Amino acid sequence: MKLLLGIETSCDDTAAAVLTGEGAVLSSATSSQNEVHAPYGGVVPELASRQHLRDLPRVVTRALDLAQVNVRDLTAVAVTAGPGLLGSLLVGLSYSKALAWGLGIPVVGVNHVEAHIHSPWIEQPSLPYPALALVVSGGHSHLFLCESPTRALLVCATRDDAAGEALDKLGKRLNLPYPGGPVMDRLALKGDAKAVPFSLPKMAKGSLDFSFSGIKTAALHHLKQNDLTPPANPDIEALPQWEYDLIASYQKRVVDHLIQRLKKAALLFRPASLTLAGGVACNGLLRSRFAHLSNELGLAAGIPSPRLCTDNAVMVAFYALSTGRDFDGDGYTLDAFPTARWERAPVPA
Ligand code: KG4
Ligand code: ZN
Repeated sequence: MKLLLGIETSCDDTAAAVLTGEGAVLSSATSSQNEVHAPYGGVVPELASRQHLRDLPRVVTRALDLAQVNVRDLTAVAVTAGPGLLGSLLVGLSYSKALAWGLGIPVVGVNHVEAHIHSPWIEQPSLPYPALALVVSGGHSHLFLCESPTRALLVCATRDDAAGEALDKLGKRLNLPYPGGPVMDRLALKGDAKAVPFSLPKMAKGSLDFSFSGIKTAALHHLKQNDLTPPANPDIEALPQWEYDLIASYQKRVVDHLIQRLKKAALLFRPASLTLAGGVACNGLLRSRFAHLSNELGLAAGIPSPRLCTDNAVMVAFYALSTGRDFDGDGYTLDAFPTARWERAPVPA
């Protein structure tokens, strides 16, 4: 029986998972570094790699224990090789190569963004291709045309900040707990999303690209113009009402922009399904608007469970299986890559 170990250390989550060759998930273990980075309001690369070094062995042990699998029964290791923070990637890669070499089994390098793109198929294996895949996280805001498990073409990307980064930056300005995205998702429910009228970015005609820097500037301007000072150590359940209103309006504007672009691209590329992935895909408003749009366009909707949206190792192992590369591997000279480029999807005439 094939038993694959997945390892993910590209940013600030240390994760391991065990999957069978048929794609059944036997275990998934994750250790978050939120507490390490919270005092800085963002990921500190040096601290992230050192924390992976400390956490990875016990996260792998936990994944093996949960799966009730002996390490000697593993048949391959799949590990994120990029894109991501170089130091963090090197910890996962070095560990994986040493483990695979010691066991005499293949090691497969996986592209983190492609693992996110294919995460909806873990729970919905019959989602039809081609899929228009929206990947939104702290580091990425991309739209791909996904023709098969091995072929994803880039439709558009953000010109500046990622969607999660835009949420996290306002959270930081408001002194909310880190990261801001999940906290704002909850607090937005207490606010009036129409209270602050943020306009959508004006892009060149025909452009599908995302842009989030304008809304960030508009929010800072709103605070200054109205002489609003966020509390320094806020009780997030008892914020001034203007803060809940700002959060709700800001979140709605981020989601409006994503959905507007997605709809435009769907009408142009005519996919068979729409899929959602990445940490921001946990967002309640985005999930419901995404489902609504898929329904309106009569397309299948691939929306993974939140635990498969944020960084995890299940998607890493699953992607290696989907491409069939767990059989041969990449050899023990496999290297890390901090950035990635994709072939562009040709725009339909
Ligand atoms: O995919 P991920 O775990 O790591 C990266 O590859 O970046 O995504 C983390 C991002 C953060 O920006 C975080 O604020 C955002 O996902 N996020 C959310 C929610 N949960 C996580 N954003 C909005 N609503 C959420 N519920
Ligand atoms: Zn990610």
